[in-house]
Amino acid sequence: MTSGSNSKLWGGRFSESTSDLMEAFSESVSFDRRLYRQDIAGSQAHARMLHKVGVLGAADTQAIVDGLDAIRAEIDAGRFEWKTELEDVHMNIESALTQRIGEAGKRLHTGRSRNDQVATDVRLYLREAIDALLEVIERLALGLLDLAEREADTVMPGFTHLQVAQPVTFGHHMLAWREQVLRDHARLLDARKRVNVLPLGSAALAGTVYPIDRAYVAEQLGFDAVTRNSLDAVSDRDFAIEFCAAASLIMVHLSRWSEELILWSTPMFGFVDLPDRYCTGSSIMPQKKNPDVPELVRGKTGRVIGDLQALLVLMKGQPLAYNRDNQEDKEPLFDALDTVSACLRIYAELIPSVTVNRPRCRAAAAAGYSTATDLADYLVRKGLAFRDAHHAVGAAVAYAVSKACDLSELSLQELQGFSALIEADVFGAITLEGSLAARNHVGATAPDQVRAAIAQARAQSSP
Ligand code: ARG
Repeated sequence: MTSGSNSKLWGGRFSESTSDLMEAFSESVSFDRRLYRQDIAGSQAHARMLHKVGVLGAADTQAIVDGLDAIRAEIDAGRFEWKTELEDVHMNIESALTQRIGEAGKRLHTGRSRNDQVATDVRLYLREAIDALLEVIERLALGLLDLAEREADTVMPGFTHLQVAQPVTFGHHMLAWREQVLRDHARLLDARKRVNVLPLGSAALAGTVYPIDRAYVAEQLGFDAVTRNSLDAVSDRDFAIEFCAAASLIMVHLSRWSEELILWSTPMFGFVDLPDRYCTGSSIMPQKKNPDVPELVRGKTGRVIGDLQALLVLMKGQPLAYNRDNQEDKEPLFDALDTVSACLRIYAELIPSVTVNRPRCRAAAAAGYSTATDLADYLVRKGLAFRDAHHAVGAAVAYAVSKACDLSELSLQELQGFSALIEADVFGAITLEGSLAARNHVGATAPDQVRAAIAQARAQSSP
C-alpha cells in the first residue's frame, strides 16, 4: 500500500491507512467467521434477487453464485485464508469473490450494506441454532419421561425448605423437571418467530434506491416475513437478547436440577448414582467420585446470565440506527448458544442413565415424619377441625421424636392418646403408599396420576 491512500474496500475517501493497533482493535473476523455459511447464503439470495429485478446480468449473477459456492467449499475444507485487515467475515468473502471472479464480484454489494447484511446473517445463524436446540430439548424431555416411567412408583421425600415435607414419587419429581424444559421449548419457539424476519433490503439505514424484491429474498432464505422499518432492522438486537433470556432460563432450570443431583449423589442422601463415565475422581482422596457434570452446568449458568447482561447493556445507550457497538453482540450470543447447547446435550445423554437407589429414597421418606399431614387429614375426615388436627399431630410427632421412631411405628393406644378419634384404620392412611395414593388428582403425585401424565405426554406428538 502506498502512503497517502487506503486499500480497504471502503478506502476511497481516506488519505492514510488504518493503524495496526486499530486494525487489531476493530476486527471481528476472528469470531464472526462462523457466520460464513449464512453470509454466503444471504449474498446468493441477494444476487438472485438483483437479477430478478433487472439490476444484475445473468452471467454476473451466475459467476457470483458459483464463486460463492467455491468459496464456501474452500472454507469448509479449511483452505480459506482469513485476513484480519479485511476486518470481518463479510469483507473477507466479498474480497475473495472479486479476486476469484473479477468485475462481477464488485457488483454484489449493490443495494445493500454490511448493516443489513450482518443483521441477516446473525438472524439466519440464530434461527438454525434454535432449531438444533429445540431438537435436543425434545430428546431431553423424552429422557425425563422414560426415567419418570421407570420410577413412577418410587417413593422419595418431597422437600420444602429442603426439609422432608411429604412423600412424592421420583417419577413425579422428574415430571416437574420436564414441565420446566417444556416451557423452555415453548419460549424458544416463540423467540424464533421474532428472529425469523428478514432485515436485508434495509441497506445502511434508510432502504435503497433499487427496485428490490425483499419478499423474494425472504422466500429463498426461509424467512417468514420482512422487517417493516429499515432503521429498526439494522439497529435492534432484541431478538438476540430475547434468545439469551430464554437461554438463561434454560440454564437456571438445569442449574436447579444440578443442585439436586449433586445433593442426591452424596453418600448422605444416596438417592441416585451417576454413571462413572460422567464423573471424575480426586487426585488426592482415593474414595472420591465427583459429580462434575452438574457442577459444571451450575457454574456455566453464570456465564449465560452474564451474556444476557452484556447484550442488554450493549443495547441500552444506542441511538438509531446502526452503531459499531453492535459488533459486540456476537461473542456473548455465540457463547450463550455454545454453552446452553453443550449443557442440554450432556443432560440429554446423562439423565436416562441416572440410577435411582429406591431403598435409600424410601428410607429418607420414612425418616422425616413425611406422613404427618396425612394423619392430620385423617382426623379431619373423622370430623376434627384442621387446626385442631394439626395441633394434635404436632404433639404426636414430638412424642415420636422423643422415642426416635416414625408415626406409623407408634401403637394404636399411643396414637389414641393424641386424639380419641383415631382408630385401627389410621395405619392405612399414614403409610408412605397410603399417603401417595391419596393424592390422586390431576397434577398430584399418586403413582396412578404419574402414569396417567406419562401416557398423556406420550400420546401428544411433540415433544
Ligand atoms: N462487523 C460489523 C458488525 O459486526 C459489520 C457491520 C459493519 N458496518 C459498518 N458500518 N462498519 O456489526
